[in-house]
Amino acid sequence: MRKICLFLALLLSNSLLANDVWYASSVKNLFENSKSTTIKGRLLPTSKIEVLGEVDGRYKIKISGFVKEGTEHAIYFAQKNRILVAGLSKGSNFEVLSSTNIDKSDFKEISVVAFVEKDSLTKDLNSLYVQADELYKNNCGICHSAHNIKEFTANLWPSVMKSMLSRTALTKEDNYLVVQYLQKHAKDME
Ligand code: HEC
Repeated sequence: MRKICLFLALLLSNSLLANDVWYASSVKNLFENSKSTTIKGRLLPTSKIEVLGEVDGRYKIKISGFVKEGTEHAIYFAQKNRILVAGLSKGSNFEVLSSTNIDKSDFKEISVVAFVEKDSLTKDLNSLYVQADELYKNNCGICHSAHNIKEFTANLWPSVMKSMLSRTALTKEDNYLVVQYLQKHAKDME
């Protein structure tokens, strides 16, 4: 009986692990396989991933999003604007799990397999957004009041941040998180 229980518990924990949704809490290096030390891409903070399993101490993950014909190395959050989920190196060779053409558009919806170290992942996307909001308000609301998130579109926020970044104490890493937060809550996002 105990053995059966243990078996069931293992089975359950494995099936929970499959299709396990997490969010990157910082920029994460992407590898093509479990052992490679060559970084072949970067996953942006707040990007959603699914953990498919664990191999050699790394997570095997699924990344989903949209790619535009001709720039397949950039995986976007949506078709309508340029919010990066992940950037893959040109010439990288990640396993493609699915790739679906979208009617009347030069976009494809794709999912790829990648490997990541197990750190800097969270299930609590909301806390990440709260952290980003604090960073934004504390750094961008000093000389003038912090501009409303809905003031700019998702495509504009990166350049707005870039133009003001040198006036703040935000690190490059902070900036990646704040930009993602601002883009995903921008004027043209719901
Ligand atoms: C050290 C003071 C200071 C900080 C910190 C600061 N700003 Fe500004 N910001 C200014 C000033 C001064 C202006 C007026 C235009 C100029 O000098 O470029 C301005 C203008 C702006 C504008 C209007 C630009 C335009 O062309 O109308 C935006 C948007 C803006 N800031 C966003 C931000 C964001 C986002 C941050 C955080 C990354 C930030 N600011 C941090 C001083 C600051």
